[in-house]
Amino acid sequence: MANPLIKISALKRNFVLGSETIYVLKGIDLEINKGEYVALMGPSGSGKSTLMNLLGCLDTPTSGTYILNGKDVSKMHDDELAEIRNKEIGFVFQTFNLMPRTTALDNVALPMVYAGYSKSERYERATEVLTQVGLADRMDHKPNELSGGQRQRVAVGRALVNKPSIILADEPTGNLDSKTSEEIMALFGEIHKNGNTVILVTHEEEIAAYAHRIIRLRDGIIEKDERIK
Ligand SMILES: Nc1ncnc2c1ncn2[C@@H]1O[C@H](COP(=O)(O)OP(=O)(O)OP(=O)(O)O)[C@@H](O)[C@H]1O
Ligand SMILES: [Mg+2]
Repeated sequence: MANPLIKISALKRNFVLGSETIYVLKGIDLEINKGEYVALMGPSGSGKSTLMNLLGCLDTPTSGTYILNGKDVSKMHDDELAEIRNKEIGFVFQTFNLMPRTTALDNVALPMVYAGYSKSERYERATEVLTQVGLADRMDHKPNELSGGQRQRVAVGRALVNKPSIILADEPTGNLDSKTSEEIMALFGEIHKNGNTVILVTHEEEIAAYAHRIIRLRDGIIEKDERIK
């Protein structure tokens, strides 16, 4: 494709800790097209979360370029990155990261506050999204009144609410049992079928098998990149 959604070239990320420099990503070249479903795998410490943070505009590279949707985000400042992040990216984390004393509805509606929608628009859209993730009957529950799988559904709803171009999920099933993991993966499957681009990190081959492409990192470089569907 002429214009990939993500185009990364010679991307490096070092961390300086005192007098020591840690070389984490050592030169990543990667293209991902709109509508792809990608699993990112690799041993602990290989740089998966570091790469996801860069993909999600939570961090900027030490060197190299990252073109997202035609825009060079690698040299953007924090405020520009925040805007891109809110518009283009939906995040799902292993530990759900929901607001604890806040209902499912308000957790999902929150990103729309920053995007500047009115209260009625926010609640209408959050209700639609919670229904889509199968929680129409749990909208007024707070996170501690929900199961782990239901909490992750709320987090998926929150990721979808601003209609992002990419859903990024770092170990989204890492805290779930195998049956609940299957349910969450079925949900990601639906999201992908609706035309979303999905990139997820997992340690588990069975989870990666839901994706259409598996990228394996080792010591900060791409060791293998294979299409499986
Ligand atoms: N902010 C930071 N400062 C210094 N070193 C960091 C920082 N973030 C990550 N690292 C180092 O970078 C390496 C890769 O970390 P990263 O979190 O990307 O690994 P990972 O592949 O996600 O591992 P896991 O599977 O355990 O989640 C690790 O050695 C880590 O200690
Ligand atoms: Mg990680």
